[in-house]
Amino acid sequence: MKILITGITGFAGSHLAEYALTKPGVEVFGTVRVRSKLDNIEHLLDKINLVECNLLDPFAVRKIIETIKPDRIFHLAAQSFVPTSWNAPEETLENNILSELNIFEAVRLNNIPTRIQIACSSEEYGMVYPEETPINEENPLRPLSPYGVSKVAQDLLGYQYHASYQLHIVRTRAFNHTGPRRGEMFVTSNFCKQVAEIEKGLREPVIKVGNLEAQRDFTDVRDTVRGYWLALESGIPGEVYNIASGIAIKIKKLLDIILSLSNRKISVEVDETRLRPSDVPILLGDYSKFNKQTDWKPEIPFEKTIRDLLNYWREKVSSRH
Ligand code: GDD
Repeated sequence: MKILITGITGFAGSHLAEYALTKPGVEVFGTVRVRSKLDNIEHLLDKINLVECNLLDPFAVRKIIETIKPDRIFHLAAQSFVPTSWNAPEETLENNILSELNIFEAVRLNNIPTRIQIACSSEEYGMVYPEETPINEENPLRPLSPYGVSKVAQDLLGYQYHASYQLHIVRTRAFNHTGPRRGEMFVTSNFCKQVAEIEKGLREPVIKVGNLEAQRDFTDVRDTVRGYWLALESGIPGEVYNIASGIAIKIKKLLDIILSLSNRKISVEVDETRLRPSDVPILLGDYSKFNKQTDWKPEIPFEKTIRDLLNYWREKVSSRH
């Protein structure tokens, strides 16, 4: 079975590649851009096939799909950092929507029975009221960032290409996920990296933070990518599934957990530049539809995920200095 992962050099992409390689008879392909950093997949380079492709170029996308003829496509490539979407809304919308469109068109025009998973997001739910939690797939979508809007568009485009052309498309709305290799801008990684640098004496014992009142539902990335795999094994084409832990945690509590793992005394300082024009107040997912369809449930406890992530940063910071 040939699988193609867009965004293979990214956080979730690298974990999905690792997971796919544990399956017998699976050949892994991944798209990379000219200047993509390969750090996340360095350890996999002799086991995977990388193809250079600008997903915004419809002809390039058509060509690689025609050449590889993948049985499965996991479409993870995206501009995925919410704050960037305010600074560069056009780029976010263009990248996220058109890359996906090019993939759908390439599969449609090549007329191949590829199964396609689309990495949608809980950010699509946006403004959620406490009485609407845990959020199921029927909740209204009220995105609060250009990124959220781009994911709504990706989501609905997936629905439409299935409805219009019967492409085998399964949409997954992943809630926050984290673990080793998480990009350093995202909250869990950012806090862990700061702590690792403080422990190493590379910065003052003051951790910079943004909005600590928001609540998020975190899954370990290794559980999330197992979900992506199952979505294409046994998810129903045209359907959308939440992938979540079913537990919401305040960012303040997350900070306390991370600080409790260090023996340094660290004070906390709000950095105004980390505050957003609007921040989704609460994300707490109901994953029962996905569980019923695929048997998926989260397995890795949050404390282990955070411990692994902090140790990842401790090693990385040490190896750099
Ligand atoms: N990044 C960051 N840095 N976030 C902070 C900080 C900080 O210093 N302090 C508080 N936060 C808060 C943010 O305001 C937000 O409420 C929460 O921590 C999580 O922020 P991020 O880790 O940046 O993730 P996100 O929730 O905006 O988006 C992530 O999850 C989505 C799924 O819901 C991303 O991974 C998206 O790509 C993904 O779709």
